[in-house]
Amino acid sequence: MPRVIVNCAMSVDGKIASRIRKQVQLSDESDMARVHRLRNDCDAILVGVDTVIADDSSLLVKEKYVDNPRQPVRIILDSKCRTPPDSRVLDGKSRTIIFTTQGHEKPLENAEVIVCGTDQIDIKQMLAHLDKMEIKTLLVEGGGTIIWSFVSGRHVDEFKVFISSKLIGGVGAPTPMDGSGFEDESEFPELNLIRSTMSESGILLEFEA
Ligand SMILES: NC(=O)c1ccc[n+]([C@@H]2O[C@H](COP(=O)([O-])OP(=O)(O)OC[C@H]3O[C@@H](n4cnc5c(N)ncnc54)[C@H](OP(=O)(O)O)[C@@H]3O)[C@@H](O)[C@H]2O)c1
Repeated sequence: MPRVIVNCAMSVDGKIASRIRKQVQLSDESDMARVHRLRNDCDAILVGVDTVIADDSSLLVKEKYVDNPRQPVRIILDSKCRTPPDSRVLDGKSRTIIFTTQGHEKPLENAEVIVCGTDQIDIKQMLAHLDKMEIKTLLVEGGGTIIWSFVSGRHVDEFKVFISSKLIGGVGAPTPMDGSGFEDESEFPELNLIRSTMSESGILLEFEA
């Protein structure tokens, strides 16, 4: 199975976007450079369809941060094929794969659409699919719903979180891990802290599962 690395940035109060789910700049410049180097070192970058809709990020490695980037495969988990056709991930600048569910597949320009599950994307099945495609390292960038699915299914090998110096607030603002959450303390995964690195305006915490 591919090595799964989760990477996200959050505010001091543990939010990854504002309560209107608008993308916010949380990484500082040195963290942005780190994220782009990390993207370049991975074979694929994965996000959920709601991050595509909210952020419309290209998920490309910027040449500003990496010379001659390799441009990893872009992967979207999108059970109902809701990815807007004019999204940046469909700009044809790198390979894009959309995983969807039975009955929702439809052709999308500049993307391969793969059926993987009946209701929601079956993460285990999807990872097995990526393995067959020789994808050895998968960077999961969010959002909180997708990260919950990876963590609750015990599919995460590394968890990196940049804590910025901003405060966002809002009970409905997304966090690094949303979904239903664990109830019982015995279920909580415990990670091993392997590194903490201060930058000009925040701190990066790197954990292994
Ligand atoms: N600060 C950061 O590092 C960072 C990074 C990324 C995103 N964000 C923020 O996060 C927010 C979006 O997060 P989000 O939690 O709303 O959405 P999300 O995690 O990006 O996407 C969730 C959607 O993915 C689809 N999905 C397909 N298969 C799934 C599976 N197996 N498990 C879970 N979901 C699956 C579901 O929609 P369907 O049922 O329709 O398929 C689900 O609603 C935005 O505000 C964005 O700005 C922040």
